Amino acid sequence: MAAEQFNLMKCNPTKKHALNSRRKCQMFTFLCVLLLALLNMWLNGFSFESNHCTQVTILMWYQPYGKPNNLRGDESWVRNCTPCCKIVEQRSLFPMADVVVFHNFELVRGQEKLPLDLPRPPSQRWAWMSLESPVHNGDLKRFAGIFNLTLSYRRDADISIPYGERLAKEADRDDPVQGVAHNKSFLACWVVSNYRSSFKRSQVYKELSAIVPVKVYGRWTKTPLSSEALLPTISRCYFYLAFENSESKDYITEKLWKNAYQSGAVPVVLGAPVKDYEAVAPPQSFIHVDEFASVKELAEYLQQVAGDRKRYSEYFHWKRKWKVKVNNNWGERVCKLCSQFSNLPPNKVYTDLAAWDHVIDAM
Ligand SMILES: *[C@@H]1O[C@H](CO)[C@@H](O)[C@H](O)[C@H]1NC(C)=O
Ligand SMILES: *[C@@H]1O[C@H](CO)[C@@H](O)[C@H](O)[C@H]1NC(C)=O
Repeated sequence: MAAEQFNLMKCNPTKKHALNSRRKCQMFTFLCVLLLALLNMWLNGFSFESNHCTQVTILMWYQPYGKPNNLRGDESWVRNCTPCCKIVEQRSLFPMADVVVFHNFELVRGQEKLPLDLPRPPSQRWAWMSLESPVHNGDLKRFAGIFNLTLSYRRDADISIPYGERLAKEADRDDPVQGVAHNKSFLACWVVSNYRSSFKRSQVYKELSAIVPVKVYGRWTKTPLSSEALLPTISRCYFYLAFENSESKDYITEKLWKNAYQSGAVPVVLGAPVKDYEAVAPPQSFIHVDEFASVKELAEYLQQVAGDRKRYSEYFHWKRKWKVKVNNNWGERVCKLCSQFSNLPPNKVYTDLAAWDHVIDAM
């Protein structure tokens, strides 16, 4: 508008000979107005584009597990997350961050601290992130009334970041299922580094191995497997004992999603309740210890199924309709915050995070 007025003012004829130059001036003014209108449209159009999504800044206060490469290694995820979202690490960006993410592991060990001394913008959310089961999360009572969001493998977390997931295959193709009962040498295999006789999984193992042979690998038996050897080794077993270290709601780790499903051994699971597995795993893809009245019955069942090609192959029928995705990328996990940002609860405070973490799910 300022430029327009300026031109119009200059167009006021102050001299008699001005008729000709007045036309020129009017033409010039017209062009100026047109130019301004176009500029305006372009600018409006531009801001309309970026209004499609809310600009979101996610600040990772520090890297999960103190490995500086955890997020940077997943750079393509961080870069391509969404065009409207920035995942940043510079603490100086705190005042403008929409979400600040704190990984619990370092907090409970005192390796990192919450910036409680900084003035916290009222609309800023603090997110608590953990992939550990409650018994390994430490004492969360000290975090009462601090966090607004949870990022966890739990299905009821604000942002659910499970260790893996089933995905429906696009077409229900009746492909023959490959590699069933191919080159199997062992009935059941178990990989264990951290053996503690108090764990339920250790008791089940002891009972089971007294009845049927169980091949054991890992640091406990001083037969550790390299990451390259892991899947080929498990693939030689009919069953893989995907026993979790804790029995907690939704706590289903890469033991199921990667070790079992990617190797082609049928998982025998122990940990979360049967219904949690049923909710997330492909149908008839696993055997849950709790489905049997005793370990003896489980042992007998495993022997029967391994000896019956048809029954064994039924544990692979799911592959016709489902595939499995292993989630092990920190960039992808944090990116979920961006894609779900607009659906987050507006005003939420975890007044008792410890109670949320230790929730006992009603059946
Ligand atoms: C079967 O397993 C053994 C031991 O890992 C391996 O040497 C052999 O090549 C395998 N055979 C086939 C057909 O995959
Ligand atoms: C986040 O939690 C704090 C309490 O620590 C609260 O004061 C604030 O209103 C919450 N913010 C949002 C956006 O939920």
